[in-house]
Amino acid sequence: MKLAVSGKGGVGKTTFAALLIRTLEQQGKHVLAIDADPDANLAAAVGVPDADRITPISEMKALIFERTEAKPGSIGGFFKLNPKVDDLPDALSARLGNIKLMRLGGVKKGGSGCICPESTLLKALITHVVLARDEVVVMDMEAGIEHLGRATASAVDRLLVVVEPGRRSIDTAGHIRQLAAEIGLNQIAIVANKIRGPRDEAFLKKHLSDFKFLGFMPFDENLIEADLNGISPFDAGSTAAETVADIVARL
Ligand SMILES: Nc1ncnc2c1ncn2[C@@H]1O[C@H](COP(=O)(O)OP(=O)(O)OP(=O)(O)O)[C@@H](O)[C@H]1O
Ligand SMILES: [Mg+2]
Repeated sequence: MKLAVSGKGGVGKTTFAALLIRTLEQQGKHVLAIDADPDANLAAAVGVPDADRITPISEMKALIFERTEAKPGSIGGFFKLNPKVDDLPDALSARLGNIKLMRLGGVKKGGSGCICPESTLLKALITHVVLARDEVVVMDMEAGIEHLGRATASAVDRLLVVVEPGRRSIDTAGHIRQLAAEIGLNQIAIVANKIRGPRDEAFLKKHLSDFKFLGFMPFDENLIEADLNGISPFDAGSTAAETVADIVARL
């Protein structure tokens, strides 16, 4: 099973992805977690030890050079477009129980659609992970689905879009659906987060009436507190974990 998580900034993508990853692992699955959001720290949310010391792959200059045969940061030079990546998940992942976690990091964008060695390696890695790994894969992404292309989209079982009760997160969900449709990814569903009561739930159902909802996670101070203390939302004693278990059952 291959799952991608997206949504507007701050809606709770990383919180939900971490709950999802830990829930799947608790159920006996081997999970490959991909932190594809340069500004996020999925490892900390999952509860991986020394999460802040994981080097993002985009910063592994020697590796990028070795695999693409090009100088990182170079533009316009020659380099391999199909670098070897199949050994990387096992070699580079941080681990917690049956969870392997890879942090991709960010690639500075130069001009329009720069094809640089860093982005080529990351793209190859994501393609490999989605098409060839047999674990459950969970990807925590940015507000877009930039890392996915036509080839990978067809192998993604579900794009989970996290929304909160608010106009902008609804607009972003619509935008993400459009981007997904352009690459042929139509398996899309909503996970509502930060729900304070029936009014919030009704608001989202009304404004996203043509989406499928997988679940509604409550607004919970315990999750904020856990975040502040560097504790995984899974270990926060939040009922959100129960919602996620229900969501997993329905996937
Ligand atoms: N259900 C919830 N109730 C209360 N607070 C929440 C809930 N879910 C997430 N939060 C809090 O909202 C903040 C943003 O959450 P999170 O980092 O998961 O969002 P994100 O979408 O991944 O953000 P970013 O776009 O920056 O990556 C955090 O402080 C988190 O603890
Ligand atoms: Mg995040």
